[in-house]
Amino acid sequence: MSSEIALEIEKIRAQVEAAVAEGATLESLNDCRVAVFGKKGAMTGLQRMLGKLSAAERPEAGKIINAAKTELTAKLDAAIEKCERAALTAAEMRDRIDVTQPASGRPLGGFHPVVQVMMDVLEVLEGLGFVTVQGPEVETDFYNFEALNIPPHHPARDMQDTFYFGDGRLLRTHTSGMQVHSMLEMGAPLRIACPGRVYRRDNDPTHSPMFHQVEGLIVDKDISVGDLKGCLEAMMEGIFGKKLKARYRASYFPFTEPSLEVDIECFKCSGSDPHCQICKGTGWLEIGGMGIVHPNVLRYGGIDPEKYTGFAWGMGLDRIAMLKYGLTDLRALFDGDVSYLLSGRHE
Ligand code: DAH
Repeated sequence: MSSEIALEIEKIRAQVEAAVAEGATLESLNDCRVAVFGKKGAMTGLQRMLGKLSAAERPEAGKIINAAKTELTAKLDAAIEKCERAALTAAEMRDRIDVTQPASGRPLGGFHPVVQVMMDVLEVLEGLGFVTVQGPEVETDFYNFEALNIPPHHPARDMQDTFYFGDGRLLRTHTSGMQVHSMLEMGAPLRIACPGRVYRRDNDPTHSPMFHQVEGLIVDKDISVGDLKGCLEAMMEGIFGKKLKARYRASYFPFTEPSLEVDIECFKCSGSDPHCQICKGTGWLEIGGMGIVHPNVLRYGGIDPEKYTGFAWGMGLDRIAMLKYGLTDLRALFDGDVSYLLSGRHE
């Protein structure tokens, strides 16, 4: 009987050895495991045969079967583990990232020059406690002109300068209309900055029918031209990245008294280059108008000019963007040619 068992064990061993030979797959190994050690497997059958042996034969036969079982299970397990490891390595090789490969290029982008300058200005103003407000581009005559003390016969109201709608409304010609809107809405004291598009009937290389301004307005007690200068110089430093001298010239706007126009020192040559492309050799760049708010404008805004004073300014952002980035054609700012728009970035 025990020789029968020994024979059977040899058969099983041959079966397992054939299964673990070179070229085994996980599937074939698992099939072999079921065929040998499964419920109906050959090894399980052998264990069952033990019961039929005599009590004398049983211990010896049991030992032999157990030893074979341990040996063949270990063989099969080792082969399965090897196969699993090989599968894992193959998957890792397939999914590996080659860190020496060049990276795919990042697309180059940037803000539009006008947007960049607008963000620079607003960042400075927000730091000084200004609130950014947006106003309507389609405006009434009242806010755009009348409330700013611009009399009916003023040339700015001319059809030549302003785009009117049939109903008497108009495309705002400046962001100054937000002065009285804001005073009526917020009262005094206030600090607002209003960036946005404005429109005029102009069209040549240095004028576009649509352009951008930032309006600034402070209404408070004890305001002076000194405050105005401080704000302006901080804004210029925010835009051009360095302190620039400013020059103030007496001017006239119906909504301010006194009125000033401001020039800043040429950020390129500081006046040292008679052939400078930016300042045309003058050493100065004109950037905007400003002044102490006219008492009539405060009154239109519901603010008592005996108690409060205001100062205001308006700057053209397109011109400043062109100066900063060395761009020469104002209308091309709005053509959408990205290489032109970004051409001044890397100077
Ligand atoms: N609104 C003026 C313009 O478009 C600019 C301006 C000048 C705005 C003086 C102001 C100011 O607030 O005080 O030309």
